[in-house]
Amino acid sequence: MKTLMPPHGGRLIDRTGASTLSPDPKVSLTLSAWEQCDLEMIAIGAMSPLDGFMGEADYLSVCDNLTLADGTVWPIPITCSLDAATADPISEGDQVALRDDAGRLLGYLTVSQKYRQDKRKQATTVFGTEDVAHPGVKALMDSGEVCLAGKIDVVTPRHDPMFTEHRLTPAQTRAEFERRGWKTVVAFQTRNPIHRAHEYLTKCAQEVTDGLLIHPLMGATKDGDIPAEVRMQCYHVLLEKYYHADHTMLSVLPAAMRYSGPREAVLHAVLRQNYGCSHFIVGRDHAGVGKYYSTYAAQEIFDTLPEGGLQILPLKFEHSGWSKRAGGMVSRKTFPMIEGDQIHLSGTKVREMLQEGQRPPEEFTRPEVADILIQWMKNKPKGD
Ligand code: ADX
Repeated sequence: MKTLMPPHGGRLIDRTGASTLSPDPKVSLTLSAWEQCDLEMIAIGAMSPLDGFMGEADYLSVCDNLTLADGTVWPIPITCSLDAATADPISEGDQVALRDDAGRLLGYLTVSQKYRQDKRKQATTVFGTEDVAHPGVKALMDSGEVCLAGKIDVVTPRHDPMFTEHRLTPAQTRAEFERRGWKTVVAFQTRNPIHRAHEYLTKCAQEVTDGLLIHPLMGATKDGDIPAEVRMQCYHVLLEKYYHADHTMLSVLPAAMRYSGPREAVLHAVLRQNYGCSHFIVGRDHAGVGKYYSTYAAQEIFDTLPEGGLQILPLKFEHSGWSKRAGGMVSRKTFPMIEGDQIHLSGTKVREMLQEGQRPPEEFTRPEVADILIQWMKNKPKGD
């Protein structure tokens, strides 16, 4: 590639910098955790070409076809919902103030349409299940019946944002890639500390690109996931000790996690294209939860997208781990699998070990990362 990857849809959206309008709009909406993340993502251009919350034609097309109504690839509805009674007095053309849970103003929505969302359709098409034990389905079912569509104008994408030094917008990552002279950049999505298998994928990908963007998702996650601050400590220690600073960058993705497996893998790729990346790592059970998706469904979905619909290239990785016989990291593709040879620990087992103050084997996780997690386990209140 001669230049950086263009944004999805061709143009980077910027809906930030709105002034505080007066008088205040009559209607105020408190956005859910998901919606607050989406608002920020749209405003900073990470969700280009979206410039606001989706209308019904896009919503239905996304569910049924994985594209916006105009044919642009888009896998997950991005909506702003409210209950029918609150929606009642709102009409097309109205301006609605958008607020966070503390009542602080984030921005405005200029309503272009009001419609009922089809939660069952969305659950079955996007999540592949209506089971409310699925955290994404639960959040969907808890959301309002009515959606407001329209362009947003954001005053403050987020009050008290975390990791401001590492919270680069797409325009900022692009500028930094240019400064470093990177043309091809591989993005790594994660919602976990980086273990050895993750490290292996990132380094394999780094061999064939100019740079690696470690891009952990730091928006809303489900209970039980490791808190953002703890993960951030793990990334810092790893970067200092085990990565090449000239070819590695760390920045956070302020998106919400939906746990919708294959659909979310496509969304994750689209977002990273907007940040200027040319390649995107998709391993086993990407963005999955429980047993809802098959191991490689999140890779297979890319083959179903319309030809040329997505420019960023998914780099697909087989299940990887440390092989005792090979004495190194392998995947099923690079070394024949024999039962019991790869060091693989379940999440539950790792948790148990950390809780007992025990480091998992070095072949599974770097000792520096294990120590941060052990410390966190020790200090966190029981039951968290
Ligand atoms: S995710 O929800 O962000 O996908 P996680 O942080 O565990 O969860 O995974 C980050 C990326 O690493 C995903 O692309 C996932 O598929 C990949 N991955 C995680 N563990 C492995 C593994 N052992 N082998 C191959 N890929 C893996």
